[in-house]
Amino acid sequence: MSLEKEIKRRRTFAIISHPDAGKTTLTEKLLLFGGAIHVAGAVKSNKIKKGATSDFMEIERQRGISVATSVMGFEYGGVKINILDTPGHQDFAEDTFRTLTAVDSVIIVVDSAKGVEAQTLKLMEVCRMRSTPVIVFVNKLDRNGKDPFELLDEIEEQLKISVRPLSWPISMGPSFKGVYNMYHNNLNLFSSSDKQTIGDVVKVNDINDPAIDKFVAPFADKMREELELVNGCYPEFEIQDYLDGKLAPVFFGSALNNFGVQDLLDCFIDIAPSPRPIQAIQREVNPYESTLTGFVFKIHANMDPNHRDRIAFFKICSGKFERNTNYLHTRLGKKLKFATPTAFMAEKKSIIDEAFPGDIVGIHDTGNFKIGDTLSSGEDLQFKGLPSFSPLMFKYVENGDPMKYKQLAKGVDQLMDEGVAQLFTNKFNGRKIIGTVGALQYEVIQYRLLHEYGATCKYEPVNIYKACWIVSDNKAQLEDFKKRKYTNIAFDKHGRDVFLADSMYSLQMAQEKFPDVKFHFTSEF
Ligand code: G4P
Repeated sequence: MSLEKEIKRRRTFAIISHPDAGKTTLTEKLLLFGGAIHVAGAVKSNKIKKGATSDFMEIERQRGISVATSVMGFEYGGVKINILDTPGHQDFAEDTFRTLTAVDSVIIVVDSAKGVEAQTLKLMEVCRMRSTPVIVFVNKLDRNGKDPFELLDEIEEQLKISVRPLSWPISMGPSFKGVYNMYHNNLNLFSSSDKQTIGDVVKVNDINDPAIDKFVAPFADKMREELELVNGCYPEFEIQDYLDGKLAPVFFGSALNNFGVQDLLDCFIDIAPSPRPIQAIQREVNPYESTLTGFVFKIHANMDPNHRDRIAFFKICSGKFERNTNYLHTRLGKKLKFATPTAFMAEKKSIIDEAFPGDIVGIHDTGNFKIGDTLSSGEDLQFKGLPSFSPLMFKYVENGDPMKYKQLAKGVDQLMDEGVAQLFTNKFNGRKIIGTVGALQYEVIQYRLLHEYGATCKYEPVNIYKACWIVSDNKAQLEDFKKRKYTNIAFDKHGRDVFLADSMYSLQMAQEKFPDVKFHFTSEF
């Protein structure tokens, strides 16, 4: 198959949701349809259950699952689908943000009773920043939930995106009858008795077809009224608006009951984008270019502490990736080739000879890669779009065992390369500060330093409100600022200057007094 055909048939996406909305269940049902798994229950939730935050076995278990399910590839209807998994716990939100840089589209799962929840809002912000096309799946229609019109208003308002229902629920909860699929114009009947098969699909000519009355009584008239209202209220579905990230098609269903999932999947393979051009610092890269480019968006350490190797997850942006071929690691300026690149098909890993844009290749790494690193066929290129956000929590990290200083330094360094947290070094006193999104990461770091590197670390409190990357065209003012605030200036792992503001007030004062200094809350600006 030609490179062009291979690219056109790829759909790389992530499913995102607030915990418990049904992401794991939907993922599993998509894999069932794709024939990638054969029994329900094969995809384990990668949630860290409430109250288990200090249970380290739980953390290891979760890590094990997230290696196995990081990428789930399968074939469906001639299309190669790659689902990129995102962590369920909000303390790992930064991981999810990075994964979103490697997808071409997103499916958002919303619980029909709870509506739009906090984490969905944050994730949608990242999608909006990148104009990522999104499809919304409203889940759990087998339970009583919010009125669908109300829910659509809420989605539109809170996610700040226009919506267009492509299926419509006929009642809900105990009297849920099914959905009318407006994309394919058919009636999909719900039966809760058999969770593993698809309900009956009734072909109808239009919504006035008398056959409908028989199947969905006593809700036929209400359904017709509502559909009329939908068609009157919402614009026609324009695929370009979806591809531009301006309009989200909405589907209704029940992932647990396998209901509405196929409607979603069939429409998804039709409308979701194949790999699109990606912006590098130097230029825009088109997937159809013949030379290879791509970047590492995730690094996973080996679960076995005796083998300190890692898997780097490499997203191909253009050209064909081939085994045992020299590629340029652009940050190190050195050529590398890979003897055992792996592809991920459902839960299985296998060595591959070639892979195409949209695919994720697992590269066995002995310490060459950091998150964001670019590989190319020879061109000096660096992809943008893997920003670090200002952490929300900060702590000094200190060595707990003077005999293990080297182990600690190496461990901290490697965990930061993996993107577990961010490291800042205070320029004034040389002390190292770890910044995270949530408290759980501190426990993960401490646990992994001990088990994988034999190092003991202690944390000490530090009063920091926000980390801001500082730059200015006015060099004199920047130097003056750094001199005056010398106890609060640090550098990040790339050596960039960071101001560690201790309060909102001190940040505001700094912004007022030094108008030419720019304070950025993400590392990419
Ligand atoms: P998440 O990955 O988004 O966190 O959610 P997950 O799929 O784990 O689903 C969260 C809970 O919601 C699970 O129940 C799951 O069975 C249930 N669920 C998912 N889809 C539907 C649906 O369409 N209808 C109904 N009624 N429930 C649904 P749980 O009790 O937390 O877990 P489990 O013990 O069933 O695994």
